[in-house]
Amino acid sequence: MTQKVTLIATAAMGIEAFVAREVKALGYENVQTENGRVVFEAPVSAIPRANLWLRTADRVKLLVGRFKAYSFDELFEQTKALPWEEFITEEGEFPVVGKSVKSKLYSVPDCQSIVKKAVVERLKKKYGVASILKETGAFHRIEVAIHKDEVLLTMDTSGSGLHKRGYRVGQGEAPLKETLAAALIQTTNWSPDQPFVDPFCGSGTIAIEAALIGQNIAPGFNREFSSENWHFISSSNWERAFEEAEDHANYDQPLDITGSDISHDMIQIAKSNAMEAGLGDLIQWKQMQVKDFHPKKDNGYLVANPPYGERMGDKPEVEEMYRDLGVIMRDYPSWSVYILTSNESFESLYGKEATKKRKLFNGFIKTDYYQYFGKHVK
Ligand SMILES: C[S@@+](CC[C@H](N)C(=O)[O-])C[C@H]1O[C@@H](n2cnc3c(N)ncnc32)[C@H](O)[C@@H]1O
Repeated sequence: MTQKVTLIATAAMGIEAFVAREVKALGYENVQTENGRVVFEAPVSAIPRANLWLRTADRVKLLVGRFKAYSFDELFEQTKALPWEEFITEEGEFPVVGKSVKSKLYSVPDCQSIVKKAVVERLKKKYGVASILKETGAFHRIEVAIHKDEVLLTMDTSGSGLHKRGYRVGQGEAPLKETLAAALIQTTNWSPDQPFVDPFCGSGTIAIEAALIGQNIAPGFNREFSSENWHFISSSNWERAFEEAEDHANYDQPLDITGSDISHDMIQIAKSNAMEAGLGDLIQWKQMQVKDFHPKKDNGYLVANPPYGERMGDKPEVEEMYRDLGVIMRDYPSWSVYILTSNESFESLYGKEATKKRKLFNGFIKTDYYQYFGKHVK
């Protein structure tokens, strides 16, 4: 297929701008940021590239149609009018999932079956099939998403969510999503030759994402995508995208990344995850309480997702930890400190007003990302 397609990179609330920046960095134009998604036009070859490279997006979807519908008839006819045969072969399998918010067509099961019926009718007619479609071929998950009567018909090109990089073999109680971890790092001005520390590393997500960014390793390099065997994306597009990822990875880039945690078990998990990510011994892992953290070099970056103290009884201990961290970092003004927490008293506990704050959701928890810019020394 030579013509352009419209792709939608979905994003968690608050992360859209990061995704848009990444899409632009891949060289695509006409990039529009909407709530929870970034829409862009690109050649078909963007499907492999976006899936491989986007660090902060949840999924990449192919937009098949966008229209208003106020009745089931309208939904059916407009769905049937779309060129599904360009994307789905006679054998293709295409389950339909759906969601509807603030719309006249609110019954999701009905919308799903109407879309299914419309696509079936269209394909049967185009392929001259009188009986049923076998659906034994490539898998295409169609989504009908209706918001304020606007229907978005998409096909998921990713398969499992893009946060699944393929390296998480173990996790703790509250692991950070890989996509959010990447966004936290991308907020900073860290460059791979500078020290980077997460003293609350848990299963190691932030440190591992930093290493992937530091060596420019494509986050999707170790996984599969559901569109890998779609007929209209030539296998050379996939091969080229993987080759490009291989060429751009800078495995020789030295890194100074440390992850530490009070829990010995978490350090073991972080180590296994880093191994699985193919990072070997690139990251230094240390069992240590934050109180004992003392930077040895200048101009470092501390990026962390400490405990929030939301569980009953945990708060005093957590707040003490924030105080300890503030006291320690006061002696290292060249360091930049970035903390994600839901604790609204963070700044007063840490003892300093943040240079910048940004609201972000960690799952369903409303958090602030407190950013303290260090004064670099030569
Ligand atoms: C919210 S979790 C971090 C999760 C991590 N970002 C991940 O993706 O897995 C907070 C971590 O802080 C650690 N922790 C709690 N108290 C600590 C302390 N005093 N010093 C260092 N680490 C501590 C916990 O063991 C836990 O792993």
